[in-house]
Amino acid sequence: KKVVLAYSGGLDTSVILKWLQTTYNCEVVTFTADLGQGEELGPARDKALLLGIKPENIFIDDLRETFVKDFVFPMFRANALYEGQYLLGTSIARPLISQRQIEIAEQVGADAVAHGATGKGNDQVRFEISYYSLKPDIKIIAPWREWDLTSRTALIAFAEQHQIPIAKDKRGESPFSVDANLLHSSSEGKILEEPWDAPDEMVWQRTLSPMDAPDVATEITIAFKNGDPVAINGEAMSPATLLTKLNALGKANGIGRLDLVENRFVGMKSRGCYETPGGTILWQAHRAIESITLDREAAHLKDSLMPRYAECIYNGFWFSPERRMLQALIDTSQASVEGTVRMKLYKGNVIVTGRQSPNSLYSMKHVTFEDDQGAYDQFDAQGFIKLNALRLRLGAMAGRKGGGL
Ligand code: ARG
Ligand code: SIN
Repeated sequence: KKVVLAYSGGLDTSVILKWLQTTYNCEVVTFTADLGQGEELGPARDKALLLGIKPENIFIDDLRETFVKDFVFPMFRANALYEGQYLLGTSIARPLISQRQIEIAEQVGADAVAHGATGKGNDQVRFEISYYSLKPDIKIIAPWREWDLTSRTALIAFAEQHQIPIAKDKRGESPFSVDANLLHSSSEGKILEEPWDAPDEMVWQRTLSPMDAPDVATEITIAFKNGDPVAINGEAMSPATLLTKLNALGKANGIGRLDLVENRFVGMKSRGCYETPGGTILWQAHRAIESITLDREAAHLKDSLMPRYAECIYNGFWFSPERRMLQALIDTSQASVEGTVRMKLYKGNVIVTGRQSPNSLYSMKHVTFEDDQGAYDQFDAQGFIKLNALRLRLGAMAGRKGGGL
């Protein structure tokens, strides 16, 4: 029996690794992904070797470009936000991790996969729904739902008993739980559980405080093609390079902090502190380029479907027919979404100052307050308004003035 474990190299997944070996008595294959979380992956390999994993059973992949190109950018084409605010930074990484884990399972002939998410959260749902949709007969092991290592003390004791090295800063209770990738960092739990308590400044790990950001604005341009960003300040970049650059610009200007209480799929509310510096800039820029390139009804239709699309991703249904259908509709809309947006980054704010496109639908000739030389006949508006008001006038005549029911 073989199991592929999503392995970060940290204490928790190292304990899981040992626990799988001892409890299930199975051969463990580790998979560690670089999604831009900003950690060296070498130590994860060393630790896996130290814990007795054979070199051929250690998989370490740099998935940064795939992550941004095939997951983050498609999601930003939709302007996706969960519950109006959350840019889905953790949610969008789960299907990619799951997909690669299943690929490895098939490659090495493993019959099971394991992950380190708890039984209370969204992540377990996202991992497992993705696994099942890609490999319907896969066996899933979720140690946090099974074992009795329910306290930090028990976990540390288990680690010591099995000679798992423990980093000094991991001995004590960490003050909150962090998940990070190129798109965002999230902090949840423990000292953040009381929603009235303001987050300590140390919660914020990848942005300057807006209060400490420079007193002068940084001006940038972002160029788009087919709805995806392709260049910053005229310099073309690969997807992951571009997002990395936007993250640096956002960080320096205190952009992308969010303190949110959200509804988890499993039913409870939870409080999270998120930092999405580059994503916050990109979201605004994408809306700005869409504002001149999309037809009004096309834009409103995709906006109306956005919450549903965001829910698919949040709830773990990336690999589902409904998400693919929505994606096809959204992608179709993006053919004309091309051009450049100029913006100022200033103390936590993203301020759009200009947009232009070879496909622009904006007609100065029509909108001008000056003489439009007959481009638009203002007389047409009279009938347009009258017919739109007809049912309201009939209602008012029947005694239902002001739209009364
Ligand atoms: N609440 C966010 C979400 O569900 C962040 C989850 C963070 N996950 C973690 N393993 N720390 O997407
Ligand atoms: C977890 O429970 O593992 C993290 C939080 C979440 O998945 O929502």
